[in-house]
Amino acid sequence: MSTIATILQDEISTATLQKGLYAIAACTLIGAAAYAGYKAAEPEAKHLPSHRHPESNEQIEKVLELLRLDDEDKLRIIMQSLEREMELGLSPATHPTADVKMFATYVRSTADGSETGQVLALDLGGTNFRVLLVDLLPQSKVELTSKIFVIPQSIMLGEGSYLFRHLADCLMEFMNKENLNKPGVRYPLGFTFSFPCKQEGLASARLSTWTKGFTCSGVVNEDVVKMLQAAIDEKNINVQCVALVNDTVGTLMACAYKDPNTEIGLILGTGTNACYMEKLDRVGTWDGDYNDPKQVIINMEWGAFGNNHRLNHIRTKYDEEVDLSSVNPGKQIFEKMISGMYMGEIVRLIMLDLIHQNLLFIGKCNGSEDFKTPLFTRGGFYTKYVSSVEMDEGIGFSNTRRVLEDIGIRNPSYDDCAIVQHICKIVSKRAARLAGAGLAVLINRINKPNVTVGVDGSLYRYHPRFKRNMEKCMQNLVSKNIKFLLQLSNDGSGIGAALTVAAAEALSNQEKSKRSYPLSDDGSGKGAGLIAVVASRYLQQLSQSTSTLHNHNNEKVPTQFQKHLSTLQSPM
Ligand code: BGC
Repeated sequence: MSTIATILQDEISTATLQKGLYAIAACTLIGAAAYAGYKAAEPEAKHLPSHRHPESNEQIEKVLELLRLDDEDKLRIIMQSLEREMELGLSPATHPTADVKMFATYVRSTADGSETGQVLALDLGGTNFRVLLVDLLPQSKVELTSKIFVIPQSIMLGEGSYLFRHLADCLMEFMNKENLNKPGVRYPLGFTFSFPCKQEGLASARLSTWTKGFTCSGVVNEDVVKMLQAAIDEKNINVQCVALVNDTVGTLMACAYKDPNTEIGLILGTGTNACYMEKLDRVGTWDGDYNDPKQVIINMEWGAFGNNHRLNHIRTKYDEEVDLSSVNPGKQIFEKMISGMYMGEIVRLIMLDLIHQNLLFIGKCNGSEDFKTPLFTRGGFYTKYVSSVEMDEGIGFSNTRRVLEDIGIRNPSYDDCAIVQHICKIVSKRAARLAGAGLAVLINRINKPNVTVGVDGSLYRYHPRFKRNMEKCMQNLVSKNIKFLLQLSNDGSGIGAALTVAAAEALSNQEKSKRSYPLSDDGSGKGAGLIAVVASRYLQQLSQSTSTLHNHNNEKVPTQFQKHLSTLQSPM
């Protein structure tokens, strides 16, 4: 970045001169510009100002050309390559060196909407961390109480033990506020931990690598549930972590709670990743039993696709720069082309390149103070700006003007706004098409007549046309005999962890004697088992369990039911 910034300084006076020249050119060449600008343009190009010098429009298009993924054949090649990487991850021989890890979770089937009860959940996946109390109510209704806590940068980059202590502190604060401190009650907890983990059981998972700006030391290869539990116990909080889930799995579970066709969970937020239900006979790495249901949710960790250079043919110098200046260079290459943590930065780098070529903000970047503005600072252009800019319709550009003022461009011209919007559209469309191609691989592989994808994440949620762009490219990439539905999954990462706990609790109660289960031998199993009420269709015939539910007043209420055991696979 500094390279561009340095060169830019030398260019400032030239830029002022050129401003005048462009003004003259703009007056005399309106007609020619309009004609040439539109003629060769792709759909987005019509948003480029027509009264600019045609050459400048062409130059801008040339810069942006490499970011276009409109060619369907290119997407099909990417799809084939992803499927090959998936096979490498699923095969025991190649798994250790595979980039797309395809971690088998221990979740074997989805919730069926009958689970009820009150469960605590922690959701750690980005700069924000949430503590939740999830009420699973009859008829798939869910009530949430939650509090967001910030994870300071010093903790994200510090020692692992501090991170887990911070989580335990936040949990304690939340529980005190919600009066969840009844003596003698051990509260079960679901932990949504949205980083790549090799799961060794429902409540045992080793971190394989950090992503999304975290680098806490002493955590990679360690069991994060153990680390969290140690921090909880250190503070004498009466909580037992019963299940760890990835946010994609939580999203799948939460969506399936309402729609039984849900087979895929997708996150498009700070990071990106997908999980899906895979047949056991295709999971070479599976070391559990082959009982029904012969399936398991696979946490793909698709963000790492491309780490082995498989995506080099579509990467641009901006992608390379984003990667090199990240805390994990060479890693999460697919994620860095798609997700919210990086999209704004890609746009910023393109803007700087255009400034350097005197194609953008002409005459507006003079003065040394400019270099202290967000536009010239790494991370200074947020992905939420991309969404905001793309929300502008017509020629007013009110959002875009506001965003540009925020990053230090005073009185942006109509041209400036149009060009910035054009850049945002191309970068976000590329991301949507990449994610869409990835989803098409999964939907075709699942090959059922109706497939619902549960989707969550701020990028998907707040970007005005991400969903539309994904759907558009998927129409042609998904087999014609399959109908797919992209379904926004509200609060999936928190609710999903709670659902997994609810099911795990039932499993614990029913299977204690048969299986090694984390809660069964520490004496706290009973206490922890006091929350989940699982009223499934199988249950009428089952005897009354010892489980207890906390009602809304936090009083213990005896439960009547237990859940069918096949929901979850505990470690063998
Ligand atoms: C993580 C995944 C996670 C995704 C979305 C990625 O960086 O590796 O585990 O699911 O972000 O939060």
